[in-house]
Amino acid sequence: MPGRVVVTGGAGFIGSHLVDKLLSLSYQVTVIDDFSTGKESNLNIARTYLGQFDLVDMDITDARLGEVVSEIAPGHIFHLAAQADVRKSIEDPIHDARVNLLGSINLIQAAKLSGVERIIYAASGGTLYGEPATELLPLSEENPRCPLSFYGVSKAGVIDYLVAQAALGGPGFVALALANVYGPRQDPHGEAGVVSIFAGRLAREEKCAIYGSGEQTRDFVHVSDVAEAFIASMGSGNNEVINISSGVETSVNELYSTMVNLTNCRLEPVYLDSRLGEISRSCLANKKAKAVLGWSPKTDLESGLESVIDWVKDSI
Ligand SMILES: NC(=O)c1ccc[n+]([C@@H]2O[C@H](COP(=O)([O-])OP(=O)(O)OC[C@H]3O[C@@H](n4cnc5c(N)ncnc54)[C@H](O)[C@@H]3O)[C@@H](O)[C@H]2O)c1
Repeated sequence: MPGRVVVTGGAGFIGSHLVDKLLSLSYQVTVIDDFSTGKESNLNIARTYLGQFDLVDMDITDARLGEVVSEIAPGHIFHLAAQADVRKSIEDPIHDARVNLLGSINLIQAAKLSGVERIIYAASGGTLYGEPATELLPLSEENPRCPLSFYGVSKAGVIDYLVAQAALGGPGFVALALANVYGPRQDPHGEAGVVSIFAGRLAREEKCAIYGSGEQTRDFVHVSDVAEAFIASMGSGNNEVINISSGVETSVNELYSTMVNLTNCRLEPVYLDSRLGEISRSCLANKKAKAVLGWSPKTDLESGLESVIDWVKDSI
């Protein structure tokens, strides 16, 4: 029987897709979110599941979180609430650490007190391993952690707390190291925001900016596949990090030309100076996800991009 679960950050881009999927599988879902970047409209589908869906408007750093979680008594917590913007973390590392580290510690404590079985954590695969030698691509989970931004450091630090809490007899965990997630509902911020930025500008027939040569690569994984990986982690994996990725490197130039073909908006992009701290190549191996979770990505880039283009058209 599907049980009771909590999704922190459930009003956000990835969290809301996970919430919709959990509800369709008959789970009782409570979202904890402070709407700092999340949106009410992301929960429109969830709200149609009367009696199955609940929302707590709360900051995860709130001292009352333990009481709230104990009252819900979930079997599993999906932890996605975060300050998720690399650039903001560089401008204000204290805020980033308050939400990502202190908020997560507060949540881990709450989970322990209420006897949660497992926490499934949205780790950041794009920042976790830094920028190792390109011959190591696609990067496996064996690579040492080496985050190069404050966001990367705070997101990686949570993994150490989860390891320690599991060793101390608290809830178990799976940390999903997500590559560049894209899909409908994504705000145009962060790394993979490039897909929504391009889709929005092409829909309005505006020129797109490409930073640097455009030959930098990313590993784009569709949000519906990511939601499946979270669900697969409820019963598989054991206190470990697992990459969730397409395993395919796509350059920003290739991404742009595919989107131009799909939208039929043949504008030349504008090339600007590359941005500080941007890594040149990024690709994560996903063999472990297949072996441990029985998960592999199902959405190819072209149909995934179509889903964003359609969503953008409907929302402008
Ligand atoms: N988008 C990606 O490509 C990507 C890649 C790797 C990891 N992640 C991780 O996945 C998770 C979700 O990312 P997203 O892209 O959906 O971002 P998002 O900003 O859309 O979602 C984050 C959600 O957390 C909520 N939130 C933020 N601070 C909070 C707080 N203090 N208390 C309660 N709620 C709070 C926000 O309101 C929002 O709904 C994050 O943990 C992020 O670090 C995302």
